[in-house]
Amino acid sequence: MARKIILDLDTGIDDALALAYALGSPELELIGVTGTYGNVLVETGVRNSLAILELFGRADIPVFAGPDHARTRDSFEVLEISAFIHGANGIGGAVLPEPAAKVQEKSAVDFLVESVERYGDDLVIVPTGPSTTIAAAIEASESFAKRAHIVMMGGALTVPGNVSPWAEANVNQDPEATDLLFRRANDVTMIGLDVTLQTLLTYAETKKWRELGTRGGDFLAEATDYYIKAYDTTAPHLGGCGLHDPLAVGVAVDPSLVQLIDINMKTDTEGPTRGRTIGDETRLNDPVKTAHVAVAVDTDRFLEQFLSRLTTLAQATEPSESHGS
Ligand code: BDR
Ligand code: CA
Repeated sequence: MARKIILDLDTGIDDALALAYALGSPELELIGVTGTYGNVLVETGVRNSLAILELFGRADIPVFAGPDHARTRDSFEVLEISAFIHGANGIGGAVLPEPAAKVQEKSAVDFLVESVERYGDDLVIVPTGPSTTIAAAIEASESFAKRAHIVMMGGALTVPGNVSPWAEANVNQDPEATDLLFRRANDVTMIGLDVTLQTLLTYAETKKWRELGTRGGDFLAEATDYYIKAYDTTAPHLGGCGLHDPLAVGVAVDPSLVQLIDINMKTDTEGPTRGRTIGDETRLNDPVKTAHVAVAVDTDRFLEQFLSRLTTLAQATEPSESHGS
């Protein structure tokens, strides 16, 4: 039986790839997407998720909106660096038709809490943006905190951050929320920069998507090329773009893709290290470890699975206009 999954996305380019990967994974049944702010405004992210679901023939999957800013702020504006990496529309300037489906009236927090109530251990939640929505669900329901299985993309334990020497982009948006998540949730797997920067995609792979001659292939290639180009400027030493969010989905499919260490985590919320994710010294000797941090990844196995699944998914979409006419 497929494992149920909810993605909490700030749909951005690698979030879009993570969404496609979940749709293309037979081990997973995507029961809903919750939208958060981060790479884009929450409205833009929700719209991107709806449009991508429609592109891949899954407009039946509901999308819910979460809070639109961090818990310690009054509002949110997209950071310049986010717009540079993901484009102003979040999907690298790729144009998708206005989706027919609309965002659900129910809030993302209610949907998360109810889903954990209903499905318990059969459900995994994969947040790939700021922790704001998940923290709100934890505060709303003690049972959610106890029972939810969370595989998050965010943080950095053994390597520096990507927005400051300390902070990774998702955690940086709302460090208090990630700290609450680490302190109160019972089961958190952290897929941070330690491993996501070991899973890279290049123009050689996006060329294959473009050559499919389908709308899905064109979209994946166009958005990802934009993302690779941004990485060429911000992190030329890597030689490709980081598959941050898709790796979290990969681990939800198959935890043996990464090596985990069991450790109680915290997030610094004060001073120059604000946004740093690190072991909590006050719970170092606690025999119960609530977090599991990925420190190594089987890159080849992950990339092979990711590429073949996205290619199969994109292949099944309509021919692109240039090929169809
Ligand atoms: C994370 O930040 C966002 O820009 C990406 O979508 C990813 O979730 C990487 O630090
Ligand atoms: Ca993201």
